[in-house]
Amino acid sequence: MQQFNYPTTIYFGDGAVKACAQSIKKQGAKKVLLVTDATLVNVGIAKQVESELSDTGLDIFLYADVHPNPTEADVEQGAQCYIQHQCDALVGLGGGSPIDTAKVIALAATHPGPLAQYDDAQGGDRLINGSLLPPIYAIPTTAGTGSEVGRSGVIITRKSNSKTVIFHPHLMPRIAVLEPRLTEVLPPTITAATGIDAFVHCLEAYLAPGFHPMADGIALEGMALILKHLPRAVTDGHDLEARGAMQIAASMGATAFQKGLGMIHSLAHPLSSECGLHHGLANALLLPFGTEFLEQSDLNAEQKRRIKRVLQLFPATSESTLADLCRTFVTQLNIQLGLKQQGVSQRQLILLSKMAYLDPCHHTNMIPVTEADLLQVYTQAY
Ligand SMILES: NC(=O)c1ccc[n+]([C@@H]2O[C@H](COP(=O)([O-])OP(=O)(O)OC[C@H]3O[C@@H](n4cnc5c(N)ncnc54)[C@H](O)[C@@H]3O)[C@@H](O)[C@H]2O)c1
Ligand SMILES: [Fe+2]
Repeated sequence: MQQFNYPTTIYFGDGAVKACAQSIKKQGAKKVLLVTDATLVNVGIAKQVESELSDTGLDIFLYADVHPNPTEADVEQGAQCYIQHQCDALVGLGGGSPIDTAKVIALAATHPGPLAQYDDAQGGDRLINGSLLPPIYAIPTTAGTGSEVGRSGVIITRKSNSKTVIFHPHLMPRIAVLEPRLTEVLPPTITAATGIDAFVHCLEAYLAPGFHPMADGIALEGMALILKHLPRAVTDGHDLEARGAMQIAASMGATAFQKGLGMIHSLAHPLSSECGLHHGLANALLLPFGTEFLEQSDLNAEQKRRIKRVLQLFPATSESTLADLCRTFVTQLNIQLGLKQQGVSQRQLILLSKMAYLDPCHHTNMIPVTEADLLQVYTQAY
């Protein structure tokens, strides 16, 4: 028996924020904690969304201290704010960092600490009482993580000092709001990195073992959209058609990865928690080497067919391996490959491999991997 979930309501296009504000009100909330970060305040997006929300008569309280790769301290401060103002709903506005933080604030404001006890990898979801969780709404301003349609938040907890996934079906935002204009001023480097994160979600979901034809279909179309629109969004941030397609593709990636992720995500996570690399950039630096590892492994006919199916999504070139196509795609987005070039030291690779092996994402990799395999891919990517 398997369970497939595709329940998120998505508002897409101009006017989506306003429509969401009306729905929040209709659904009974009065005092909303708007969770975001300093950059979104600086570029004016927080103010703009805040006024669209408050125009409907909602009371909005701003918590704008979320850091990239958010930590337990970010969550605790936000939970204090939520309790102090007696809020009854949350809106996550920003990239995956504020949206994940909003989800976990909903948990921390209604459940006892510390957060590490809710670690999904340790079965922590059993300690979460869904009926206590307040409604969460998500307004993404990057097109990458797809956290807006996901049931988990990723936070660095104090106990593990590593990326910890906190999962519960009620952490799923009630509405995901995709307004292309909110991603217009996202700089090209972050556009590229977050877009590759979405690509790797689709790729790893499609290659994950298991029967899930719905996820497979969504993942394939997601990759096709990204291959076509990500270069356009990087070249011209004001190309709203490309921005919109990337937002949908990012939501598709996260919808698809309920089937599972793979080794690239396990390798990417310690690069963020240990070395501070942006999550999407970490994925981009590993993508050509993770796919190379797969292609050089002993694959069965169905696994080879799946790799070929992905390969056929790329525009026709003389390159014949998925690894080469991915390398070209990443470098054409002006991402410089090489962990070394991004400030990772070779001495760290052994510790990073141990951490990557403990990360659960590779449990659904296309083929099982060992710690030595993970070290080998890091070494190639270095
Ligand atoms: N919940 C999930 O399913 C899931 C999946 C993948 C990743 N994640 C997590 O999401 C986080 C990464 O999220 P992200 O890649 O979206 O990055 P992010 O939220 O950390 O944002 C990256 C940077 O971009 C800036 N930014 C965001 N939107 C902007 C805009 N419109 N204009 C200008 N600047 C803008 C932010 O202020 C920040 O400095 C990581 O913590 C990762 O672990 C979660
Ligand atoms: Fe990711």
